[in-house]
Amino acid sequence: MDLFEYQARDIFEKHGVPVLQGIVATTPEEAKAAAEKIGGVTVVKAQVKVGGRGKAGGVKVAKTADEAYEYAQQILGMDIKGHTVHRVMIAQGADIAEEYYFSVLLDRANRSYLAMCSVEGGMEIEQLAVERPEALARVEVDPAAGLTEEKAREIVAQAKFDEETGAKIVPVLVKLGEVYKNEDATLVEVNPLVKTGEGDIVALDGKVSLDDNADFRHEDHASLVDKNTEDPLEAKAKEKGLNYVKLDGEIGIIGNGAGLVMSTLDVVAYAGEKHGGVKPANFLDIGGGASAEVMANGLDVILNDPQVKSVFVNVFGGITACDAVANGIVKALEILGDTATKPLVVRLDGNNVEEGRRILEEANHPLVTSVDTMDGGADKAAELAAAAN
Ligand SMILES: Nc1ncnc2c1ncn2[C@@H]1O[C@H](COP(=O)(O)OP(=O)(O)O)[C@@H](O)[C@H]1O
Ligand SMILES: [Mg+2]
Repeated sequence: MDLFEYQARDIFEKHGVPVLQGIVATTPEEAKAAAEKIGGVTVVKAQVKVGGRGKAGGVKVAKTADEAYEYAQQILGMDIKGHTVHRVMIAQGADIAEEYYFSVLLDRANRSYLAMCSVEGGMEIEQLAVERPEALARVEVDPAAGLTEEKAREIVAQAKFDEETGAKIVPVLVKLGEVYKNEDATLVEVNPLVKTGEGDIVALDGKVSLDDNADFRHEDHASLVDKNTEDPLEAKAKEKGLNYVKLDGEIGIIGNGAGLVMSTLDVVAYAGEKHGGVKPANFLDIGGGASAEVMANGLDVILNDPQVKSVFVNVFGGITACDAVANGIVKALEILGDTATKPLVVRLDGNNVEEGRRILEEANHPLVTSVDTMDGGADKAAELAAAAN
């Protein structure tokens, strides 16, 4: 999950990273009140999960609270690279002497962390990496050791900070490393990290991505989810404990086991090419159990996706036998009743397949087509989706 700047700011503050005051506002009135509370020069900043807000006109310096009101009025509702601005942060204005860059991220290919740092901050880092790669220090950080003080010194030395500034930056990098580790982040980026006229180091912008797989260790992270932009179907699936990812096709997919579901997506996408280019609408792994309840929850989520025109249930009976899965499907359709309106193609194979197919046949549900093979099922589901399109 990517965080908003104001959320990153709060997390930075919690870990002792130097930040300036920041107050979130959703209306110009709130923005004005926030600017009055902070006092002096403030900066009105669009809160969207995309970079380059400054260039897009989403960051404006306000000399007075009335100006903060005006800028908030301009920025709220603005579209920045396809993201609507629902909130602004009123930040204390900094007297910037110099702008630097720092980030630490997960380097999957090298099975380690990578820290990047530059005395030339402010500009887009991708641009800096291309135009002046020598100005960007890249230092590997051992995940077991973390971002130690020694490592931080190595980073500032490679970035060629002068000694005095470097000495001030080292403890800030260590704190940012703590944010990265203790919050289970996959990215912590500060651009710009600034030196003020007084010589203080402050994180003026923050980008943090958290590893969702570590959510169980961080109860507080649930409150960081943005209800405005979260996909309602994904939210519902998450609530029901389903392994669901929304995609943008027309064929709903249910399978058991991540490997089988992934190959089902491939086979369906391939079959879809022959039927006007229809595609999988989601990834949904119902896991080993495949009980009626889990099946009903899965179907409920998928059938509520208005883009879905047909559903392909592809289950391989292993620990859970096919008859149990077939019963699950029949009961799920009973539970869903009239809300189930889209054709279902079911392919069962494996443990107790004969009995499973017999149960489906006996139930003779008008929406269900039983097929014997995965390719056949994918083709049928694609055909039905194309016909309904
Ligand atoms: N609190 C602040 N005080 C003064 N200037 C700021 C402040 N926050 C941002 N800026 C200026 O605006 C620029 C862009 O802001 P930033 O937060 O980095 O947004 P983005 O990276 O999305 O453009 C910064 O490089 C900095 O020069
Ligand atoms: Mg920035």
